Amino acid sequence: MTGMIEAAQAVLRANDKGGYTVPTARLYPFQWNWDSALVALGWVTFDPERAWRELERLLEGQWDDGMVPHIVFHVRSDDYFPGPDVWGTRHQPATSGISQPPVLATVLRQLWEETGDDNRAATLFPRVLAWHRWWAAARDPEGGGLVAILHPWESGMDNSPAWDAPLARVPATPTTPIRRRDTGHVDAAMRPHDEEYRRYIHLVDLFRGVGWQASAMWRCAPLKVADVAVNAILYRAEQDLLVLAQRFGEAAERAEIAERLERQRNALDRLWNGEAGLYQSLDLLGGERIPVCTSGGLLPLFARHPGPTRAARMAREIERWGQHVRYLVPSLCPSDPRFDPKRYWRGPVWAIINRMIAQGLEHYGEAALAARIREQTAELMWQSGFSEYYDPTDGGACGGSNFSWTAAMALCWAAR
Ligand code: GLC
Repeated sequence: MTGMIEAAQAVLRANDKGGYTVPTARLYPFQWNWDSALVALGWVTFDPERAWRELERLLEGQWDDGMVPHIVFHVRSDDYFPGPDVWGTRHQPATSGISQPPVLATVLRQLWEETGDDNRAATLFPRVLAWHRWWAAARDPEGGGLVAILHPWESGMDNSPAWDAPLARVPATPTTPIRRRDTGHVDAAMRPHDEEYRRYIHLVDLFRGVGWQASAMWRCAPLKVADVAVNAILYRAEQDLLVLAQRFGEAAERAEIAERLERQRNALDRLWNGEAGLYQSLDLLGGERIPVCTSGGLLPLFARHPGPTRAARMAREIERWGQHVRYLVPSLCPSDPRFDPKRYWRGPVWAIINRMIAQGLEHYGEAALAARIREQTAELMWQSGFSEYYDPTDGGACGGSNFSWTAAMALCWAAR
């Protein structure tokens, strides 16, 4: 175990660019939103000061309207496309124009509880509250209780098969020429297809055209999905924000958060699919639930949304997936014909998702299954290093290597 901890710490140190951690060298040379938040959970196990810096540097990218962007471009680099010129946002430091799964409040609470640093938590609390307000105002303007992603990258699960149908409505005709850099760094068979890339960049062109203004984006967006993972993570984050608000907030803020929680709890219910035994995203433009079973649909366990019967049903579903693959938890149900064990979010296993699911299972008393997921994740790391993700059939390394959030999960799992 000591060898693993030292190796994981070395990955974070090597990817440290001065207060922020890049996900991995070359492939992702900037600061990513949910990567950084989760990586802070690794830093806090051996360098609490550095963990706080990670969050502070991420929030240097926060917009006036509260949005915390999915990438902060602290430096220039030609290794990544689309870079700051393509996004064309006005913020300094340069950022992308979309967001990512809001794990930040949950991480902030954990850092505060572990370090007892009231000053820092008090400073960051209003910033995170502003971000949650942005989700509600910009991405749920009608107040139904589910927030929408307007770009697949906002889900953090970029090319999940759940986005295939909604993305097919997005024209594959960007004005910006595509200059993919990712396939120069890793095998193209592990990355999204060119066609998907054209649609991703079309969306960026479209939103840049309306100046990244939230209400204009909402009006023109050809893709609007209530992603189950983002909504579950947000629901969990609001619970953690409420705990922080009890210490650092005002009564009105607590009431506001509690009200959002109530709305979200009811709305998340609409995403439950009893037959499938998990939750699914909702296509807000098509008006239907997206009938794809992804690991994102298990994150309501982490959010503590399901009642005990539902949670048990979800646990049995995970076990059923486990009969088809050697390593849990694949990002897509392995009996789905689209299951592709090596391609980005269409089958592989991610350590960060495993940790959230395992935490959720523990909460519901599914200790044996949680332990199995945890042990299998450790085995993947021993066998294939701190890879970006892993093939669930043979445990092979996929994507980038020496990956920060994978190393961070090794550290926080070892620390408990
Ligand atoms: C990919 C992932 C996303 C992650 C980023 C950096 O785009 O899909 O979730 O944040 O890489 O690791």
